[in-house]
Amino acid sequence: MGLNTDQQYHAVVPPLTMTSNFEFKEFGVPHDYEYSRTHNPIRDLLCEAISVLESAAGAVVTSTGMSAVHLPFVAFLKSDDQVYVPKGSYGCTVRLLNTLSDKGHFRVRWIDCREEDAMERAFADEVPAMVFVEAASNPLLHVFDVPALAKLCNANEALLVVDNTFMPALLFPLELGADMVVHSTTKYINGHGDITGGAVAAKSEEHLKSLRYWANNIGSTGAPFDSYQILRGMRTLFNRMETHQSNTRRIIECLLSHDAVERVYHPSLPDHPGHHIAKAHASGYGAMVSFTLKGGEKAARAFYDGLAWFTMAESLGGFESLIAHPVTMTHAMVSPSERREAGIVDSMLRLSVGLEDPEDLCADVNAGLDRASD
Ligand SMILES: Cc1ncc(COP(=O)(O)O)c(C=O)c1O
Repeated sequence: MGLNTDQQYHAVVPPLTMTSNFEFKEFGVPHDYEYSRTHNPIRDLLCEAISVLESAAGAVVTSTGMSAVHLPFVAFLKSDDQVYVPKGSYGCTVRLLNTLSDKGHFRVRWIDCREEDAMERAFADEVPAMVFVEAASNPLLHVFDVPALAKLCNANEALLVVDNTFMPALLFPLELGADMVVHSTTKYINGHGDITGGAVAAKSEEHLKSLRYWANNIGSTGAPFDSYQILRGMRTLFNRMETHQSNTRRIIECLLSHDAVERVYHPSLPDHPGHHIAKAHASGYGAMVSFTLKGGEKAARAFYDGLAWFTMAESLGGFESLIAHPVTMTHAMVSPSERREAGIVDSMLRLSVGLEDPEDLCADVNAGLDRASD
């Protein structure tokens, strides 16, 4: 995206335009750009790239994944509107929606999507203004049937927003009927662990217009430098996803063949409740894997203590392998009862499998599992 478009020096890679302002020709007459909060050339190219990736009418690039999650709520919901969100969603999304609904911005109902037809039953009770789901949830890897949800939402004029952070280049929610797609570009899209960013892509021009208006209105658009980095990272997204996934397959083999492991959560596994859905609608199963250990939190700590290749950190989706303990990290802000209900337990660990040599990663995981069973 944007290659060979530089008119000044004919740089092959589009340049980073670091400026707040763009000069006006005269009173009220700008050149192409006015002010970087509203538009910036490199950010516009990233918007275009994300729009092409998601087959969208267009996209808005925001400063973080959370500002992208926030944007559809601020743009489309009124105080008495109802929104349905699955239980077990990403902890910061849970906190954001609970605190906004506490302040009366909209109403939120948490749906237990492990129960079959839970969404249909909730719709029969009350038609929401919006449904917000994660393509594969964090950290349980619940997978949602986007076409079925889209059918339900479209028939009832409810908006369907899908957070596709875990499945970029693998699942295309807009093509499956969703209205908007959210990304934390901090993760796979940038893929290099060096910035934070977010994006919302919309299927319709009308929704895109509102998203643009509100991103500028609240000033949550992404920084030019971050956009430059993300666009650079995105150029290798498809190749990286392949290696992330093949390394993950190797790690899953290690986990499944070790006695210390209680359960592995990954949509590629035939006993995963979302396996058939992912198989039908995605071109891969993603590279995030969670697992629980038989020995509880003590075993989780033993697994972690001594790892050479997995760094303990909150984020995911970068070239470097990371490990997270959801109870004390990504989901620490969720109440213990909500966590328990969602199935996020003390012995659960989540791996973001990187691009390292799979032999090194497997040796590290196997040694950790041996420690966990001591
Ligand atoms: C599924 C999901 N959505 C949104 C976010 C928020 O992204 P950010 O940390 O870039 O604000 C995260 C972060 O982990 C996430 O996992």
